[in-house]
This record gives sequence, structure tokens and C-alpha cells, in this order.
Amino acid sequence: MARTKSVYVCQNCGAESPKWIGRCHSCGQWNTYVEQVISRGSASFAENKSNAEPFHLGEVQPEKVARIDLMNDEFNRVLGGGIVPGSVILIGGEPGIGKSTLALQVAMKTGIKTLYISGEESPQQLRLRADRLGGDGGECLVLAETGLNAILNRVTEIKPGLLIVDSIQTLVADEIESAPGSISQVRECAARLLKMAKETHIPVILIGHITKEGSIAGPKVLEHIVDCVLQFEGDSHHIYRILRASKNRFGATSEIGVFEMTGEGLHQIKNPSELLINQHPPDLSGSAIAANVEGIRPFMIEVQALVSTAVYGTPQRTSTGFDIRRLSMLLAVLEKRASFKLATRDVFINIAGGLRVDDPAIDLAVVAAVLSSSVDIPINQLTCFAGEVGLSGEVRPVSRIEQRLGEADKLGMKKILLPGFNRKRVDPGRYGLEILEINRVQEIPKHLFG
Ligand code: TYD
Ligand code: MG
Repeated sequence: MARTKSVYVCQNCGAESPKWIGRCHSCGQWNTYVEQVISRGSASFAENKSNAEPFHLGEVQPEKVARIDLMNDEFNRVLGGGIVPGSVILIGGEPGIGKSTLALQVAMKTGIKTLYISGEESPQQLRLRADRLGGDGGECLVLAETGLNAILNRVTEIKPGLLIVDSIQTLVADEIESAPGSISQVRECAARLLKMAKETHIPVILIGHITKEGSIAGPKVLEHIVDCVLQFEGDSHHIYRILRASKNRFGATSEIGVFEMTGEGLHQIKNPSELLINQHPPDLSGSAIAANVEGIRPFMIEVQALVSTAVYGTPQRTSTGFDIRRLSMLLAVLEKRASFKLATRDVFINIAGGLRVDDPAIDLAVVAAVLSSSVDIPINQLTCFAGEVGLSGEVRPVSRIEQRLGEADKLGMKKILLPGFNRKRVDPGRYGLEILEINRVQEIPKHLFG
């Protein structure tokens, strides 16, 4: 016989406790526990016999799945070539970054019957957005509803080819008593949508908000459930946006999609490097170009640095798009190994386009930009850098060197500085640019400023 009992669940991290507690022992937040009634199945083994038979993996017939083309190359690329039927994709991002815009654009362009559930905006607001995006709505049906059961009923009735839920935090499952957006609601709604997707083969795109801590809908609860987790990032004051996969059950997580936010919605950027270095100011010190690879995509990006005398006692270190702790480390390395006195100077770092970079190979360009600004000598615009900087000032090898060189060559760069290890393994004749070797940060001034 099933019996019911209740547990208390932390709304911030999902930890459970048999009784109410004021402070979560797992995440340390106060007053986050909410009672949740659960019904547990019988503990008797005899009653819980499974009808499913175990099988050998070799016996399973592979199914050739035709992926659904979203008519958006960048989005398709991130998913590994389109959306797999029956899969659930979660797109997370900060408010105002463009998640709804991306979803609506896809909904209007795919050409397959799409049901767009809007829990946040009214149909009139969606219409306004659609007008801005310059579409007539295509095959997109809009439903302003937040009740999960009502939505699932509609889906069975309409049988769309794609379901978009904007956003998962607004949905309510009547069986759960807590408020919309709470952990238990989000988890229940996502789990039931997943079940629906697997049974009907309708792919689902869920939009999720990011909490202050940067995770989707509080903790990782949703990330386990869904098939793909995509992050839509960028600086809402800038125009560039990156779509990155952090989990993908049907493809690699190494691809990224690059978009530009314009007055008419998001435009795909086929060749990001050209845009990100074109605005490079001529003959200005403090600017260096990094031959980066984001995921598996080569990406030339401009790093800007400003080094100035500190006005206040404690010098400032500010960085946009680059990890501030890594910047402090690089400055300490410069100070200790290359005898550059930066302790009394303010240092500001900016990555062009408001993008955030993860590739450690950008270190060398950051160091070069800081040095250039510090001595006020510009770096030649046709010189680029790739190399990770270690604690003892050594320049460490980086991956995917051929791609970096290929991209630099394609963009007409004349010179690239690489770690010695990488330099020895490439065939310089293949590329039309001068490949220089650098093994320690001390050598940078010699290479750059003669
Ligand atoms: P939105 O998709 O509503 O963000 P999210 O759903 O992630 O919260 O995007 C909102 C921002 O995008 C808003 O500040 C205005 C801007 N925007 C444009 O610049 N151009 C456009 O065509 C559209 C539709 C929005
Ligand atoms: Mg939105």
C-alpha cells in the first residue's frame, strides 16, 4: 500500500530534511525549507515486480534518428546538427540576454508546427516582438498558459512538431503546493515534460532563468533531467551573444554559436573573428590580439588593457570577460618574473565585444596588452598571440594549434607568437605568417618592442 509522508526541501539547493530547519546545512541559506508531501510506493518487493526485461546492448536495434533542422545554423551547430526528436533542451541565461528572442525566432523560422508556451508575456507582447523580428509568425502557435496539465492536454490535442516553454519557472503543476519557480515545481514540471517528450517524440525547448549565483533555476536540479543544457551568454550592453552547450547527450559540448543582437532580432555570425578585431584602433597601446579557440571554433579576439597610476592607496584590478583571479595571477607573474612594477598601478582588462573567454591560451595576449599599455608602445596590429602563462613565467603549450594558425593566416595576420613546444611541431611553410617562439614572459618586450 502506498503511504504518504512529508519532507522539507530547501528551495535553494534541493537538500531534504525530515523536519523543518531554519538554516540549510547544505547551502547555508536561511529560511528556505518548504514542506512537500510525497507518496512513497510500497516497500514490499513482491508488489514492485518489473515488467521490463533486461537485454544485451547488442540486441538493441539502432534507430536512425533524423534530426530536426531549426533553420538556424548556429543553433543547429551547438546541438550537434539539429534537434533530436524527443529530446529536452534547456536554455539558460541572464534576464534580458535574448532567450525569448532566440526561441521565438526559431519558432517562426523552422517551418514545423511549433507550440510556444508563454508564461511571461501576453500574446500582444509576443506579437510586438514578432513584428520586430520581421516575421509573419510562420507555423508558430502561441499559448499563454502556465498550468502544466492544461499545457500537456493542449500538446496532445495539437501535436506540435516542437514545443517551446518560456519559461520553466512560470509553470505550475497543481499537485505540488509550493509557488511557481520553487525547486519542487520546477523539478516536477521538467520531469513531466521530459516524460511527455520521450513518449510522443516531440522535442522540447525549455527556457530557464539564471539565479544570482549563476546556476539555472537554483541548483543543478534541472541539469540532470534534461538532455542538453545550453547557456546563452554575453553582456546585455554589448551586441554579441554566445550560445554554448554545457551538456549534450546527443553531441559534443565543444561547439559554440555566435550571434549579434540587432534591432531586428539575433543575426548569426558566421565569421566572428572579422568582427571582433576589425574595430582595433590603429597605433593605440594596450591592445593585443589573441588567437583563441572557444570549444572547437577558432576565434581571433582583441584584448584591451589600460595600466595607469593608482589614484587611491589600493590599486584597482578590473576585468570584463576575463577571470579577475587569473588577471591577478598574471600580474604577480609579471612583477616577480619580468620585474614589471605593477603593484602601484591600476590595471583594467577588457575583452572586445563583451564576450567571456575560457581558453587559457588568451593569457599571452593579456600579458602583452598589459605590457604594451604599461610602456605605452603599441603592438603591431598584424601580430597575434596564443599561449598559457604558468606561475614561474613560462609560456605553456596550447591545444588545436593548426586551427589557430589557420584562422590567423586567413585573417591576414603577419606574425604569431607561440610557445616553443607548439612552434616545433608545426610546419611553418604551410602558413603565410611568421611564427615566432616564446618560452618565458620576460621575452615579450624583446619580441614586441625590439
Ligand atoms: P529577451 O529575449 O526578452 O530576453 P530574455 O528572454 O533572455 O529575458 O531580450 C530582451 C532584450 O533584447 C531587450 O533588452 C531588447 C533586446 N532586443 C533587441 O535588441 N532587438 C530585438 O529585435 C529584440 C526582439 C529584442
Ligand atoms: Mg524572456
